Amino acid sequence: MRMYDIIAKKRDGGTLTEAEIDFAIRGYVAGEIPDYQMSALLMAIYLRGMTDAETAVLTDVMARSGDMVDLSSIPGVKVDKHSTGGVGDKTTLVIVPIVAACGLSVAKMSGRGLGHTGGTIDKMEAVPGTRTTLTQQEFFAQVNRIGLAVIGQSGQIAVADKKLYALRDVTATVGCIPLIASSIMSKKLAAGSDAILLDVTMGTGAFMQNLEDAIELARLMVSIGTAHGRKVAALITDMDKPLGHNIGNAMEVAESMAVLQGRGPADLTEVCLQLAANMLVLGGKGSLTACRAMAERALSDGTAFAKCCQMFEAQGGDISVLQDPDRFPRAKYCYDLVVREGAGYITANDVEKIGNASVLLGAGRLKKEDPIDFAAGIELHKKLGDAVKPGDVLCTFYASDPALFAAAEEMYRSGLVISDRRPAEPPLVYARVTADGVERF
Ligand code: URA
Repeated sequence: MRMYDIIAKKRDGGTLTEAEIDFAIRGYVAGEIPDYQMSALLMAIYLRGMTDAETAVLTDVMARSGDMVDLSSIPGVKVDKHSTGGVGDKTTLVIVPIVAACGLSVAKMSGRGLGHTGGTIDKMEAVPGTRTTLTQQEFFAQVNRIGLAVIGQSGQIAVADKKLYALRDVTATVGCIPLIASSIMSKKLAAGSDAILLDVTMGTGAFMQNLEDAIELARLMVSIGTAHGRKVAALITDMDKPLGHNIGNAMEVAESMAVLQGRGPADLTEVCLQLAANMLVLGGKGSLTACRAMAERALSDGTAFAKCCQMFEAQGGDISVLQDPDRFPRAKYCYDLVVREGAGYITANDVEKIGNASVLLGAGRLKKEDPIDFAAGIELHKKLGDAVKPGDVLCTFYASDPALFAAAEEMYRSGLVISDRRPAEPPLVYARVTADGVERF
């Protein structure tokens, strides 16, 4: 078999066989196929697409390119969740404790920030002392003892995805539904949970920019997971506005703790409750209505917050900052961005640009090896659709160096439109996709 022929077949719109996909991926991981040939194949896939059967094979080969975690030593149903990425998306820190407080086990591997989007592991490390690398023994023992653990993804999970993602990132081939579906599902299948809830984000801060694409991505991932014997469902959630008000690692932890203590922003709380209720349904805890009530109770009676503190404590974190977020180290400088235009409504507020502005302030990485400033970030006072007038404060920037404010402001304002047109309020959740079909809200 020759990689040249596989590339040419996909370039001409052909359907690759299992043997061809296996040859290409294994050869690439083994270093026998060079980046330039894999780049050509990725671009051919980007332009020609893949059938569902090809995507399922690709996912399987990628999942098996590294360790397949066996969670059978943890009794009961193990549930996982995955978000396709967002800005101010701190739902994992809320949902995982809710679900564990309701009696399901969560043995979760999470990622770091990528581009303009944040990552749970960076947020967790904003809590001083928190260990996000545990041995497999420690990981399993913690879940068996307290019902939850969230750690960084081991380098040995879906090794092919790691290599392919880095290549896609520099060859303009990230935004392709079969490639995204196989990338995400290979990691989720390898991570071993029985049930997986997917949060497919849609909007200016997400990979998916319209509902039909988001539903197609969700449908594909649900069908791949179901074919592998996992219970999988997806919610399509809005990312035309960041969730909550805070962007930046310590600030996002503080906001998640507010939700867990029943005093968080309404949008973030609602999305977390819907995601948690759906995870509980997948874990066999009952109907959606019963699971929603269970999730609400775990928030109102404090058991979810207590679970969260238990998890951080077990992983070495200083939980005094969870109980009193004023104890987080503060950014040295802050800067208010005020409305310079006339009175009107925020008609556009590009979420990718908001995320990029937070990266420029130090809350994310411009290069893989960059350190993160946990205290840096943005507090949003006005969001898409809000009425504003000259002099109103749109948001406050936080950074350790005031020289960072100018570029972040330029980035933020480049995605901002204020006009007399009030945009329609986007729903928080657009649709639910399960193995049985699509329910649109
Ligand atoms: N997240 C992933 O893990 N992979 C993708 O391809 C896109 C988002």
